[in-house]
Amino acid sequence: MNEPPTERIEFPDGFIWGTAAAAHQAEGGNWSNDWWAWEHDPRSNCVDVSGDAIDHYHRFDSDFELLGSYGHNANRFSIEWARIEPEPGEYSNAALDHYARVLDSVHKHGMTPFVTLHHFSSPRWIHADGGWANPEIVDRFRRYTEVVARRLGDRIPYVCTINEPQIVAWAGYQLTGFPPGAGDKTLFWPVTRNFIAAHQAAIEAFKGQQPDTKIGITLAITDFQAADDDSVEVRDRVHHRMAQVYYDALRTGVVKGPNIEEEIGGLGGSSDFVGLQFYSRGVISASQGMLAPPPDAETTQMGYEVVPESFTTVLKGAMDASLPVIVTENGIGTTDDKQRVRYIATHLAAAKKAMDEGVDLRGYIYWCSMDNFEWNAGYQRTFGLIAVDRQTFVRTPKPSADYFSEICRTNAVDPKTTEQFLSA
Ligand code: BGC
Repeated sequence: MNEPPTERIEFPDGFIWGTAAAAHQAEGGNWSNDWWAWEHDPRSNCVDVSGDAIDHYHRFDSDFELLGSYGHNANRFSIEWARIEPEPGEYSNAALDHYARVLDSVHKHGMTPFVTLHHFSSPRWIHADGGWANPEIVDRFRRYTEVVARRLGDRIPYVCTINEPQIVAWAGYQLTGFPPGAGDKTLFWPVTRNFIAAHQAAIEAFKGQQPDTKIGITLAITDFQAADDDSVEVRDRVHHRMAQVYYDALRTGVVKGPNIEEEIGGLGGSSDFVGLQFYSRGVISASQGMLAPPPDAETTQMGYEVVPESFTTVLKGAMDASLPVIVTENGIGTTDDKQRVRYIATHLAAAKKAMDEGVDLRGYIYWCSMDNFEWNAGYQRTFGLIAVDRQTFVRTPKPSADYFSEICRTNAVDPKTTEQFLSA
């Protein structure tokens, strides 16, 4: 078991504190995107359909009121491309007006919005025309971003362009776990290149309208470790594909992979921050692939091992991007809310250690505000600080919501408070 810190940990003034969610996981009724199609595709292994999700589309104002009441100073959410551009070049003013109201609500409740432009889901028409493997995606994403920036940009201080592109390139294109379920390993690198080029196109499109908005990309970073000496090479390869290629591209502008070396004009140093999303480590063996966690390890509902030290490691690795870092996701799926309290305490201690060792960390955004649609794993995986009744949509905060609130309000992790929550 990972023990919580015994000393008080203080964070700097102005530290960003909040929670995150994504449109498809929370809004409900996103039938015009590729994920909805995927949930209903017999080829997918989704255990649930998203359906009404947690009806955040209609309940956003009371949701943000609740989150603001916990003393969060930021909120990360995504807008749904398929609602804004349901057919190529056809933009919905009603959808843009909706997100204007959403943004006004986040501001009104005292939080700084972090807007993700693409969180896994794409309009079906994108999906039908090669998705992220078709290089035209770069200009399509640029156009969509321009529309968003023009209509909503003055309300948006922070943009996360693309969420976890590595996961989409791997699970959706190389494998068959996410839409489009291509299962074609030759697509991994072209898709990676297109994601990186689209990130730069979005920066240009947004900054053309709103030069002061801070823009970054949010990356899922696993601490990949080699099981033994024979596995170092394969670990390095995986780390390169899933992390290093992005850090290098953000720093130098060059995307470099096995059959690709391309400079994306303007990209080197053009981002304002890198968003880091951490869940666990992955121990790789050249002969056996990814190893299961050791039998005595603390694990989560997702089967991930809980390894706070790995959080320090990946935060230090992100220094390679030469950008300020914001943790745009970190959290745990568990039915044991005290395990969540311990997880938050131990991971914040690990984050502070990274800061003490030189990482320019500006904030911590917990995943997730409310239990919601966890992609293929459906509604049984509960990452939220707040539970949601799936029939009535009633929100019931868990004790960890109060615990995290104390941290946000005091800018510190206090061992006595942690102990109170753990012994309650
Ligand atoms: C994603 C979230 C997801 C979370 C927990 C991240 O990979 O950005 O959408 O719910 O992890 O699995």
